[in-house]
Amino acid sequence: MDEYLDIALPKGRLGDSAYALLKKAGLECPELDDPGRKLIFTNAGNKVRYFWVKPSDVAIYVERGAADLGIVGKDILNESRSDVYELLDLGIGKCRMCVAAPKAFKDDLRGTLRVATKFSRCARDWYGAKGRDIDIIHLNGSVEIAPILGLSDVIVDIVETGTTLRENGLVVVEEIFPISARLIANKASYKFKEQRTRELVERLSQVLGE
Ligand code: PRP
Repeated sequence: MDEYLDIALPKGRLGDSAYALLKKAGLECPELDDPGRKLIFTNAGNKVRYFWVKPSDVAIYVERGAADLGIVGKDILNESRSDVYELLDLGIGKCRMCVAAPKAFKDDLRGTLRVATKFSRCARDWYGAKGRDIDIIHLNGSVEIAPILGLSDVIVDIVETGTTLRENGLVVVEEIFPISARLIANKASYKFKEQRTRELVERLSQVLGE
């Protein structure tokens, strides 16, 4: 065990929960208990280094080998189509990718459906498989507002508790896929650090089973 294991964590609530699991699996890093504004945290004792990055960037760091491993939501993984190994479902950060619309919405199949979303690829795949003609309106957040203002007919977005939809008069029309956080690995690092990575997956699986 002479090399560091570099892990990209998604900054925020999901990253905190993921780190709690990694800590239980033996990869604690005391610097992370009081992070301040730092973004890189090292524990020379167990040779682990954590990077605190934007959730939507985790897969980029891992795919390009800047990190060996990362924790990322299945939504981001599907949207980015990163060339990485998906090693484990951590069962945290659970939510659903859905089509949602105002209560009165009825799809008029004669016209193009206007879809507002942060997840353009997921939306394109979903409607492409149905052969439905759509116009994607790519937004960066607060997507629920789009059908209210007449910018789109429907949205494709993440639903966790359903509160945002409810408070904006929208309902789920279709569920596209369930989401949870995944442990991903860079393909080359997985070969070079296979033993450590496998040990971690085993320990994490045990922790998840407890
Ligand atoms: C996400 C998602 C929904 C909301 C769903 O948004 O895009 O808007 O959470 O959660 P709920 O079902 O529990 O209400 P996020 O908080 O990431 O902000 P954003 O709209 O700016 O992307």
